[in-house]
Amino acid sequence: KMTTAELEGKVLTIKRKLGSKLFIPCHHYQKDEVVQFADATGDSLKLAQLSEENKEAEHIVFCGVHFMAETADILTKENQKVHLPDMRAGCSMADMADMHQTERAWEKLEKIFGETILPLTYVNSTAAIKSFVGQHGGATVTSSNAEKMLKWAFEQKPRILFLPDQHLGRNTAYDLGIGLDEMAVWNPINDELEYDGPVEKIKVILWKGHCSVHENFNVKNIEDVRSNYPEMKIIVHPECTREVVALSDMAGSTNYIIEAIKHAEKGSSWAIGTEMNLVNRIIQQHPDKHIISLNPHMCPCLTMNRIDLPHLAWCLESIDQGESNNIIDVDKKDAQFAKLALEKMLARV
Ligand code: 13P
Ligand code: SF4
Repeated sequence: KMTTAELEGKVLTIKRKLGSKLFIPCHHYQKDEVVQFADATGDSLKLAQLSEENKEAEHIVFCGVHFMAETADILTKENQKVHLPDMRAGCSMADMADMHQTERAWEKLEKIFGETILPLTYVNSTAAIKSFVGQHGGATVTSSNAEKMLKWAFEQKPRILFLPDQHLGRNTAYDLGIGLDEMAVWNPINDELEYDGPVEKIKVILWKGHCSVHENFNVKNIEDVRSNYPEMKIIVHPECTREVVALSDMAGSTNYIIEAIKHAEKGSSWAIGTEMNLVNRIIQQHPDKHIISLNPHMCPCLTMNRIDLPHLAWCLESIDQGESNNIIDVDKKDAQFAKLALEKMLARV
């Protein structure tokens, strides 16, 4: 078993050796032991943009989760290889919408709504789902452009199917002035539309998926902060429920949260509702501010955390030896249509 120092030494040596042939993008939720070696850090949008722009690196070692690495593979050139240091780094939300469920849903929804519906998918979805959306004229969204993309979608069709995160979908639609009574939920487990009123009234159909990390922030956490620290501002990710976002002071993507705290007044105090590694990093970077996690039982994303220093070192070692087993290679047909959906988004941000 190698020590931390040996593993770090290995990563540094291979990084130096490969130079600009190697690119290591890192999502903000990654562990510090990995982030220290990042060539770039970012939210989902920035990491997608960087993948598209990078023409130089032969090997992109993606420190994030599977759907992000797939996006990088789709947006990079044929001769660029994308590696995921641990192939088990999935995303429970992305897994909540599979192709069979989506095809069944679409068939039923088309029966109800005919041609009046357009699919949109959060980038936190498989390449196959992005491809489905691309084939049906839709686009992807991230947490930092969801509002812009939903507006665009309503210029195309009067109704939107939003996959797979009901909370981001609901929070974004609400901000655009759509009433909660104009939003239905599609339940992919029993193939049913959950809605009380007349279907003609529906403007958004929310796929019944969620993030298991952001679901851990609740109204009780907010009430506790409000009573213990009345002056504290609460900032959360829009993957949190509608109730939590409504009771918070601000909501936005990981990048939005980072920027908000960076520009906040010295001495100000904040409760943050997002993944633990990022919250801890923000706390460390701002000793002049009082910052806590909105949920005192810090919430980790277990799959993001699968990427650790040993996996990064092993992945780089295998690349160096020309035998990587961790290559993400999206099916060609899926990649073609998923790219359409991604490009519609990238052209508008
Ligand atoms: P962003 O970094 O785009 O806000 O995404 C958060 C997230 O949950 C990624 O999985
Ligand atoms: Fe998926 Fe949530 Fe983890 Fe992001 S934080 S990768 S949405 S499970």
